[in-house]
Amino acid sequence: MMSKAARAVASPRIVSVEDFRPAARRRLPKAVFDYLDGGAEGEVTLRENRRAFEEVTLRPRQAVVVPQCDLRTRVLGLELALPFLLAPVGYSRLMHPDGEVAAARAAGAAGTAYILSTISGHRMEDVSAASSGPNFYQLYIIGGRAAAEGTIERARKAGFSALVVTIDTPVAGMRERDYRNGMAELMGGSLLAKVPFLPQLLARPGWLAHFLLDGGMPALPNIVIPGQGEMPLIDVKAALANAAVAWADLRWIRDLWRGPMVIKGILTAEDARRAADEGAEAIVVSNHGGRQLDGVSATLRVLPEIVAAVKGRVEILMDGGIRRGSDIVKAICLGAKAVLCGRAYAYGLAVAGEAGVRRAIEILRTDLDRTLHLLGCPSIAGLDSSYVNVPASWR
Ligand SMILES: Cc1cc2nc3c(=O)[nH]c(=O)nc-3n(C[C@H](O)[C@H](O)[C@H](O)COP(=O)(O)O)c2cc1C
Repeated sequence: MMSKAARAVASPRIVSVEDFRPAARRRLPKAVFDYLDGGAEGEVTLRENRRAFEEVTLRPRQAVVVPQCDLRTRVLGLELALPFLLAPVGYSRLMHPDGEVAAARAAGAAGTAYILSTISGHRMEDVSAASSGPNFYQLYIIGGRAAAEGTIERARKAGFSALVVTIDTPVAGMRERDYRNGMAELMGGSLLAKVPFLPQLLARPGWLAHFLLDGGMPALPNIVIPGQGEMPLIDVKAALANAAVAWADLRWIRDLWRGPMVIKGILTAEDARRAADEGAEAIVVSNHGGRQLDGVSATLRVLPEIVAAVKGRVEILMDGGIRRGSDIVKAICLGAKAVLCGRAYAYGLAVAGEAGVRRAIEILRTDLDRTLHLLGCPSIAGLDSSYVNVPASWR
């Protein structure tokens, strides 16, 4: 008999990656779903990220027959089969026990890259060994510089191709859903503090059985504090409490790492130029999926300004609100080399582990292929601003 997860993945009703969202809501306890789905404060930026894609329209070339579309792109000298990477998503192991390993495997199998969050429930060595890669490591300086130094060394030894340093988390954003749900108690509280969560956990027996069989998610194994060992599981606000990154830290990180460095969380031309000056090879135009400073612009909206400012000195990636192949096409037309997808694959992960991520990637791949055919453009490399209309108010 087919498992519930396999049935969910095979269902003809899963047509777009958005279809995984209600399925994830049914699968996860409320607190975990809201952590994945939610944004900061009034969630204005979360909504704006999506709305911006609706404001940009496509300009197809008709009567162009393209036998086969080429979806490849190059990022940091690596050839990727697809113009999207899987974004770092903290606590993925809470969504599914295979968490980060499953996501990395699915990305590798599809010929694209996976970015492993510092806030991971699986050891970075296991993630790297499980996938055919390439994998990038996303760094937070949680636990202080000494812990970060050890992490950077481990990431190099484990074969990570690039270091992605996230700079938009001087403190954690005010994710109101997490406060209302009591995420801090669920993640870091005593056993007694977890008792009120029992009804919502028992209401999701499939998730609970997986979680208990996995032994819970006891620690954050990639944050090892010298003299103390692995950091125990804590909520995101506590984790980010002393993890602010300044430009001087970036120089220090760069010198330690010596490989390609990507700076994630850029929203202005000024910071993009600064990142290039500091020697970043790439930047991610990102507002953390609307989870940090609410009220900042949609990332698609600020992309053109940043592309114009850096003048090709760094590669530009972007993320925020990508749910369809046409979203990816629009971002590339406006100057991104590739995009990162966060929730688009994480909903699939929550529903069916690796199979769910594979399906989400496949949906985006076929979306992309169809969109290029309909646009009359043979390749991702051939996309440019002539394929989109941008509202006059953006100029
Ligand atoms: C549940 C969740 C956890 C995240 N954890 C991290 C993280 O640990 N590090 C990081 O740099 N970004 C993190 N992000 C932000 C993503 O990397 C990415 O910027 C964002 O999800 C893009 O928006 P999208 O979800 O609309 O695709 C997280 C996002 C989500 C949804």
